[in-house]
Formats: sequence, C-alpha cells, structure tokens
Amino acid sequence: MYPAYTALRAAASEFYSIPPDQLLFCNGTDEAIHVFIQTYIDAGDELLLLRPSYAMYRFYAEVTGAKIHEIDYPAPNFEFPLEALLDAITPAARGVIISNPNNPTGSATDQRGLERIIERAAHCPVLIDEAYFEFCGTTARPYIAEHPNVFVSRTFSKVYGMAGLRLGVVFSQAANIAYMHKAQSPYSVNVMAALAAREAMRDQTYVRNYVDEVLAARTLLCEGLDRLGIRHVPSSANFVLSMIGERAIEIRDALREHSILVRDRSYEIPGAVRFTVGTREQIARLLQELERLW
Ligand SMILES: Cc1ncc(COP(=O)(O)O)c(C=O)c1O
Repeated sequence: MYPAYTALRAAASEFYSIPPDQLLFCNGTDEAIHVFIQTYIDAGDELLLLRPSYAMYRFYAEVTGAKIHEIDYPAPNFEFPLEALLDAITPAARGVIISNPNNPTGSATDQRGLERIIERAAHCPVLIDEAYFEFCGTTARPYIAEHPNVFVSRTFSKVYGMAGLRLGVVFSQAANIAYMHKAQSPYSVNVMAALAAREAMRDQTYVRNYVDEVLAARTLLCEGLDRLGIRHVPSSANFVLSMIGERAIEIRDALREHSILVRDRSYEIPGAVRFTVGTREQIARLLQELERLW
C-alpha cells in the first residue's frame, strides 16, 4: 500500500464510520462486481440477477460460466420485483446481485425489502450495488454487522463525478473483505483517484447541494413529461426512464443535434429512453426541445 492509499483508507474509515478492514477500494464498482463474482461464484453456480439492470453483472457472470437466473422488473411500471426475487432465492442460489436504485429503471426497494432479501439469502453472498445511494438514502450497510452474506458497493463515478478516475468501494465483514482482497489486482487503485477521492469526501456541502439540485430538476423533468403525456417510471436515482415509443431513436437523434445526449434503451425495453438529470437549467433546456419535437 502506498501513502495516498493508506491516507484514503484512514479517511474513508472515519467518513463511513467503519473499521478499515471492513472496506475495500476498487477500480470502480466494475472491479468490485468482477472480484465479487470471481471470489464467490464458480462455473455452473446459480446467480440471481434482475432484468433490465446494469449490464456488467451479466457480463462477468457469463465470463465465469455462472447459471444466470434473471427476474424481470415488471412492465409497465418496472417496480422492484421484491416478491418474485424472494421466491427465486432457493437453496440452489449461490449468489444475488441487485442495483438499488436500479439502472436503468430507477426503481428501488426500501429498507424492509433489503432486509427480507438479505435474510432469505442467508446461505449465499448478496451484493447490493448502491451506485446511486446519495440520491435515495436507502442502504444495506446497517445489516453488515449481523449478516456475513452482505456486500455493499458504492462509487465515486456518480454523485462525485469522478467516473474517469475509476474508484469504487465495497463494505462487508472483515473476513469477506480479506477474501476479496486476495482475488484483486494489487494495482487496482491509482494514486490520482486516491488523492482526489480524499478531497471529494471532505466536500460534503458540494454533495448535498448537488443532490438537492438534481432532485429538484428530477421533479421538474417528471412534471414536464406528465404535461407532454410521456409515461415514465418513478425514479429514486438521477435519471428517469421514459416511454417515448416508436419515435425513440428519432427523438434521441434530434436532441443530439442540440447537444443533448440521452440514452436509448429500446434494445431492452422497446421505446424507452433514459434521461439523466442534471441541473434545473439543463432540464429546462431538454423540456424546451422535447416540447418542440413532440
Ligand atoms: C448500477 C451501476 N453500478 C455501477 C456502475 C459503474 O460504476 P463504476 O464507474 O464505479 O464502475 C454503474 C454505471 O453506470 C451503474 O449504473
């Protein structure tokens, strides 16, 4: 460990109020997902995922040769499929990965939902990817102390805006962290990320202001979509999945002409476009263009 990493670990331990041996820094959440699967899932093991969700879960599960069991977020509202997931957690399950809130739907389960998943899956590791935690506030972290099957990941890519620096962090019991650390490359965390994250954690005023701005902008966006009659999924994150319909690609391309980049998700939900929420000013511009195009 080099000095900037040691300093980051000490600062994070204080910031997150967690012993240093219960946290592991990674090259983005992406590496956390990879290392989690490599450490706990063997070829042929059943891994439970939700669909649609963050693509890298399936990617690393496929590379490992896991038997992937996906449960769908149900159309048209794409709410978190809690009961269906609980039913799928049988003794055959060897692992569970969920994103809470989920990308791209924005749906989330609440504190009680997390607790029920963790208890039902007591026999296997559960990774709860909290990449969008700051926009929602629900977390599985309180269950770590009592439940050795709980792993929680966070990222510096979203609210901190540091995606290019590649830094994520995993919380779990010390024995689990030691196992994951063994499977991890010693070169994962670069010195620039370590230095920047330490400064970023110190500036919680920025984080609070940014979250407040995004939540206000998200309300503005949802009201605007309602005015236009565009159906959208209730979101607990900094994006809103909207059902644009047959004109999804056309609208995406027309917005791009005005330097507004939106994500077409038609390949998994026909006609769906994901709008990332920025500032109120940016959302006002987006709505202005949408009103013109609609
Ligand atoms: C649910 C979820 N987890 C993780 C990531 C990626 O995080 P990182 O940049 O830390 O690898 C994303 C990015 O889109 C995401 O949506």
